Parts: sequence; C-alpha cells; structure tokens
Amino acid sequence: MPEHTYERVAFFSGEKIPLEMHKARMVQRVHLRPVGERLAVLTSTGNNTFLLPNRDVFLDMLTDSGVNAMSEAQYAAMLLADDSYAGSETYYRLEKTVRGFFGLPYFLPAHQGRACENILATAYVKPGDYMVTNYHFTTTKAHVTRLGGLVYECVSDAASETESTDPFKGNYEMAKLESFVDRTGTEKIAFVRIEAGTNLIGGQPVSLENMREVSAFCRRKGLRLVFDASLLADNLYFIKTREKSCMKRPLDEIVLEMCSLMDIIYFSGRKLGCARGGGLALAHEKDYRKLRDFVPLFEGFLTYGGMSVREMEAMNVGIQETLDIDVISQTPLFVEALGEELQAKGIPVVTPFGGLGCHLDAMRFIPHVPQEQYPAGALGSAVYLTSGCRGMERGTMSEQRNPDGSEHLSTVELLRLAVPKRVFTLSQLKFVADRLGWLYEHRDLIGGLEFEDEPETLRFFLGRLRPVGDWQQRLADAFRKDMPSGL
Ligand code: F0G
Repeated sequence: MPEHTYERVAFFSGEKIPLEMHKARMVQRVHLRPVGERLAVLTSTGNNTFLLPNRDVFLDMLTDSGVNAMSEAQYAAMLLADDSYAGSETYYRLEKTVRGFFGLPYFLPAHQGRACENILATAYVKPGDYMVTNYHFTTTKAHVTRLGGLVYECVSDAASETESTDPFKGNYEMAKLESFVDRTGTEKIAFVRIEAGTNLIGGQPVSLENMREVSAFCRRKGLRLVFDASLLADNLYFIKTREKSCMKRPLDEIVLEMCSLMDIIYFSGRKLGCARGGGLALAHEKDYRKLRDFVPLFEGFLTYGGMSVREMEAMNVGIQETLDIDVISQTPLFVEALGEELQAKGIPVVTPFGGLGCHLDAMRFIPHVPQEQYPAGALGSAVYLTSGCRGMERGTMSEQRNPDGSEHLSTVELLRLAVPKRVFTLSQLKFVADRLGWLYEHRDLIGGLEFEDEPETLRFFLGRLRPVGDWQQRLADAFRKDMPSGL
C-alpha cells in the first residue's frame, strides 16, 4: 500500500490531480503587470531573468533555492535559537540531526552549497586534476576550474534525450567511468561526485542501484566519493516511487544506505531542509580534519559556519521533515501536473518529469533559434513577456566559454520553471500553462539574444543581453491583440 496520502485518497471522479497536504497561513502579495510594462522591465534588466525585480514578477519560478515555503514547526524552532558565536545549543541540535539523517559521524557547517564546493575544491583540486561527475552543476564546475581543475562527465546517454522513458537519467554510465579512470589513472582524480536530482539536465534522479555501483568502483580504486545531496528530497521521492527494490523500504533506511556509500556529503540547505544554509557530512576523520580548517577561514566559526542561528534551527527541522513522504512528494507531483498540462498543448517538456521544476526543451520549442543565440534564455524572456512568470535559463548561457573564447554549447537547452515546495496553487500553474500554450502557438515570432555585457565567470547571473532584431516588440503586439487587457 502506498504510504502517502495523495495515492491513498483517490478522487472519486477518477481525475488525477495532486492534493495539497498543507494549508497556507501566511501569504505574500504578488503583482501581474501588463505586457507593455513587462517589455520595458525586460529591456531595462538586460533580458536576464536573474536581474528582474521581484515586484515585477507574477510567479517567481526562477528557483526553489531558499524560497520553499517553511513549515510552522520551522518558524517555531527559529524562536528557540541559542544566539552565541561559539558552541550554541542550536549548533549541537543541528549536528545531531545531520549525523542521524546521513548516518556519518562528522559535520561541518557552511553558509550555502557553493561554500561547501569552495571548501572541497580548495582542499582537493590541484591544477590539471579532474572532478569526475555524473553531470556538473554551474557553481561546482566554477570552483573546480577556478583552481585549474577539469571536469569529466559520465552521465548516461539518456541524459541528452529530453524526451525519454528512462526513470533514472542522472545515472552514471559505468563503462564511461571505468574507461576514464583506466585512461587517466587515479592520481589525477581529485574526487568522484554524484549529484542527486541532477539539476542541469532537468532534475533527473540517480538510482540507489547506480550509487552502489559507483561506490563499489570507487572503493576498489581508492577514489574519494562525494555526494551532492542538495536535491536529495526529490531524488529520494523518485527512488521510493520508481525503483522496485525500494518501494517498500522506509525513507530513512534508503537515505542511510545511500549515504553509507559515500565518503563526503555536502548540501545546499536552501534546497535540502527548506531554509538557508548548507553543510558537509563526512565519513572519515582525515577528511574532516583537512576540511575543518577552511570553515573558520571562509565561513565563520565552526559552530555556525556563516549561518544565522535562526536559519540553523529552521534547517534542523527541515532536514527531519525530508523523511515525510507528503512533504517530499509535493514538488514532483506539481511538476507532473504542470508537465501534463503542457504536454496536452503539444509543448516540448523534459520527460520523465523530474524534480525541482518543469523544464521546457528550448531546442524543440524554437528550433529556428541557433544555440549561439541562447534559445533557452530567449525563451525565458518570451515566457516573462507573455505570462509575467520568470524561469531560469539552463543551457549555453549557463556554460562557461572554452579557454579559446569559443562558445561551449550545452548538451541541452532548457528553460526551468521551478516549482518551489508548497508555494504555488494549481490555478497559478494552470495560468502558466495557458500562457505557454499561447506562446507555443506564436513560437515563430521568438528570436534569439546576444550579450551586450558578458561577465567572465558565471555570466548567466549578471550578464546583460539584447534581442536579435525587434521580435520582442512584435511578440508583445501579438499578445495584446489576443489579450487586450495586456495581462
Ligand atoms: N548543487 C546543486 C545540485 C544545486 O542545485 C545548487 C544550487 C548548488 C549545489 C549550490 O548551492 O545555491 O546553496 O550555493 N542550485 C540553485 C538553483 C542555485 O537554482 O538550482 P547554493
């Protein structure tokens, strides 16, 4: 029998829609600007959804990072925080939870996920060394390459097929890993990394079975295995619902087995734990001692690591709530509901539906826009124009240029519409689907973007772009014709 309420309480009508197992008790006012204002804002913020002021955004689907709705238990815990620089009760509570949740003996706090990546890369990456990974994440790669390191990806071929039935597209292709290690030798490999809920390919999970294989290989070869658990909640839900051998196993047991396979685990508490922070859990004293010294240097004293005690309390409760299937199923079920609405309109979305958000496949949505003109970024600007919702480009714009200055074309061009936990209602998602349906019918009007200001590192955060030609004006005019209110 399924454990979570959604599957136990079926709709008598037979309709399949997710049932929220929470209610809103505090809300935030949002605004829907007319299309003319949206065009002006888009132009003044360089066509980069990261630069849009939130007051001009209707549904903020940029990310789930730090914007998941917190539970009442999290807010209550924040009031009990023990505010001291060193040795606070808050820290000891969090340390106990992290140890129990991951089952590893050592814990180091850090202010967010990329801070953990900075510490890891600083400790282990020397020029010419490799980080081997299923697939990279933007900040992870930036920290490795900042130190002269290189990234090698071993994700299965299914990852590049945006339309697929493979339930675990984030899996390692073992043959790729084995032949790379044979060719390169273990000395040049700083660490092997598994990213849960593989972000940049559409929130796609890794199976427990695959983690076992990677871990057994690393142990045979004496390679350090690092687990990025930022998107563990979604990945855990998919293991529980898609991996046959795990369907009857309790969630905590699955997490403990998964983590027992790793040497080092790190996470963004902005995702895992629905708060704002991060940390590393470590299996070995040697790694703990090596990484520990960087915490006071980069983050803050060892018992807060750059986090406020209130956030640590919220993270403490949030991590424990990850073991509640009704909590972790909410985003995947909403992503599926939105994805199915979009599919019904013929809109190309990444399948199987993943965690984190619904991912539009820009290369199939607007195949006439070349990758050099950032189709996913262009689609992001068009989606904002026609819906007031902002997503995040996950394609070539999010890549770094090659050392010779040429574009590093991304395997996939995705526009992510994030579905932060417990934030949106189904009617809001229906609105997004409706406006995307209009946009899809007018997709021929969408053109490309070009940089007018391109930062050297992580250019997608702060870069400014302009449309190639006047397509945005023409798109806004067509929208106004069908929706005279401009909304
Ligand atoms: N690893 C993964 C898999 C992530 O998705 C993120 C952040 C990080 C590491 C870095 O963590 O933001 O706390 O420093 N992802 C955010 C996103 C930014 O929008 O997907 P952070």
